[in-house]
Amino acid sequence: MKVITVGNNKGGVGKTMQCFQLVCHLAHLGHRVLAIDLDSQANLSSTLGVNIQRTLIPEWLIGDVGVEEIVCDVEGDHDFYKNVKLIASSRHMANLAKLLILSESEVRKNAGRKERLLKLRLQQIQDQFDYVVIDTPPMLGDELIMSLVASNKILIPTQAQDYSIDGLEELMDTFEIIKETENPGLEFAIIPSMVNPRRKIERQRLEELSQSFNVTPMIRNLVDMQESVALRKPVFMFAKNSKGKTDYTALWDSLGLN
Ligand SMILES: Nc1ncnc2c1ncn2[C@@H]1O[C@H](COP(=O)(O)OP(=O)(O)O)[C@@H](O)[C@H]1O
Ligand SMILES: [Mg+2]
Repeated sequence: MKVITVGNNKGGVGKTMQCFQLVCHLAHLGHRVLAIDLDSQANLSSTLGVNIQRTLIPEWLIGDVGVEEIVCDVEGDHDFYKNVKLIASSRHMANLAKLLILSESEVRKNAGRKERLLKLRLQQIQDQFDYVVIDTPPMLGDELIMSLVASNKILIPTQAQDYSIDGLEELMDTFEIIKETENPGLEFAIIPSMVNPRRKIERQRLEELSQSFNVTPMIRNLVDMQESVALRKPVFMFAKNSKGKTDYTALWDSLGLN
């Protein structure tokens, strides 16, 4: 079972979009995919057709409820959706921090440290899935840290703009700490996201970014992508000449996810 987190402490950079496309792409290839939405805004859940009142993710993490109580099917009439299960989020996800404090001694007994809780829970279901894809909230909080400890790889969508590139340093520092302490095998990929290559300034920023990091092929800022989410139809189902399909095919090829 491979665990892939999509994360960036900045919001609006295309994390949820990436998760949606990746979950559908892997399921279409025939893999058994578990999508986990750790963002209280629950955008991945609703894009996969699931809206719930109250998520029990915090209770699952601390060990009060079993995984069967929080995993659900996704809604959609395409065939590949049968390969997807979802752990959906809701506003209640915001209670995680409080619950972790209240259950501190229990957590220590079970996992040693709270950062290891998600990894522990995923180990218990590792035979049931080929891939786990995790969407995370736009902050360097417990959700993202736990995901980094539990993952083989973090995909980092980044816009080719100043503030995005500045924010990346903070995330990379956290990545290095987790790699040195909890998860030596953790890998990362920086994915230029929502790029407008016609703009000179974006081309320049992209050039700078690729001098500091090895970046993947870019995902452009495209109407295709907005349509894909609105129709809940992944880009691989679009026409052959669709730009969105072209960009994502190149991305998954470069990451060996094909
Ligand atoms: N490549 C893209 N081209 C155009 N719009 C995009 C693209 N990627 C994402 N979007 C749109 O931008 C907004 C933010 O994307 P989202 O994936 O929700 O970001 P995040 O999860 O990082 O907050 C959404 O409205 C989404 O539909
Ligand atoms: Mg999001």
